[in-house]
Amino acid sequence: MTVQTMIPESSAQQRQLFDEALQFAARQVRRLIERYPDFYPMYTHRGRWKHDLPAWTRWCDGFLPGMMWIFCRRAEPGSAEANYWRQQAVRYTRPLERRKHDREVHDLGFIFMSTYRRWHELEPDPALESVIVEAGRTMALRYREKGRYLCSFVAENSLFIDIMMNVGIVFYAAERTGDRRLREIATNHCLTTRRYLVRGDGSTAHEGLFDTETGEFLRQSTHQGWRGDSCWSRGLAWALYGFGTVYDYTRDPRFLATAQACADFYLTHTPADGIPPWDYDAPADSRSLVDTSAAAIAASGLLRLAELAPDPVKALCYAAAARRILETLATRYLARDDEDWEGILKGGVYHLHKGLGVNESVMWGEHFFVEALDRALRT
Ligand code: GLY
Repeated sequence: MTVQTMIPESSAQQRQLFDEALQFAARQVRRLIERYPDFYPMYTHRGRWKHDLPAWTRWCDGFLPGMMWIFCRRAEPGSAEANYWRQQAVRYTRPLERRKHDREVHDLGFIFMSTYRRWHELEPDPALESVIVEAGRTMALRYREKGRYLCSFVAENSLFIDIMMNVGIVFYAAERTGDRRLREIATNHCLTTRRYLVRGDGSTAHEGLFDTETGEFLRQSTHQGWRGDSCWSRGLAWALYGFGTVYDYTRDPRFLATAQACADFYLTHTPADGIPPWDYDAPADSRSLVDTSAAAIAASGLLRLAELAPDPVKALCYAAAARRILETLATRYLARDDEDWEGILKGGVYHLHKGLGVNESVMWGEHFFVEALDRALRT
């Protein structure tokens, strides 16, 4: 049986479960602020956020304040709780502004769309919008005309599936400024990713390598997945969510079809509880290792896709699958019974080959879990 065939439980029971999970998440974030003020963690080590293990790349700083903005919006306007979350969210968001010129990472969408965009949505202000637009312009500087893609942080010849979650900030900047070149860059990037990293069965490759002289696509590869020809589950979740987002910006049916192909692969290849292995093609010795962060991202992306899908049957199916994933995360993976564990969600995997954040809490997993719970409670 696959997740697609599961029937969701009653909505009242789910709402209570999701609401309690969100309350636990807010408590853990408060605890993190109090224990490690002004610290932007990435992944836990033995359940602790502070350790000396490397970051590999600094891409996660928006996720903690991103959750604070969600808690702020959910709180009763004017309440002590709303004031607390607003104050913390601003405190953790402001220091990120200088990253709008950061050309070392391909993650400016993660950093700014989870923070400045949520802030601007709550309190519209041209100054906040201009920070996002500048970050979008910086992101577009990664564009390689030969090959037509935004290159990854590792090298000019490298395209990552993860960038589908970040290209939205280029569309955002194009929309706000009317800059047609920005829109062309973003569209080309998505078409290139669709062509070379999304396979015919809806599975995805983590990385594509190009000849920088000619722009010729050479081969699929990976850093965090099992192999170049395997399907790393988080990459699939980034694609599912990212192509849905760019469909929302463009209304280009090719991007909807790609998002749905990735969603269908997720639904038909993931076990009935909705939680995927860290890589769908993982060998037997690591097959039982799941990645709850991929599940959280997929849940949020599926709920978004349910809003976008013109076919009501597909929309129902995506929403039911997302709720099923969230039920499993909230009942089996919350760190609620482990007083010493500092994260919200156990069972995330950052980088198995480097031994970083394996079976731990990971900040993007926390963020997309909170986002998905909030989405599920709002629909
Ligand atoms: N580098 C982004 C990720 O770990 O998914």
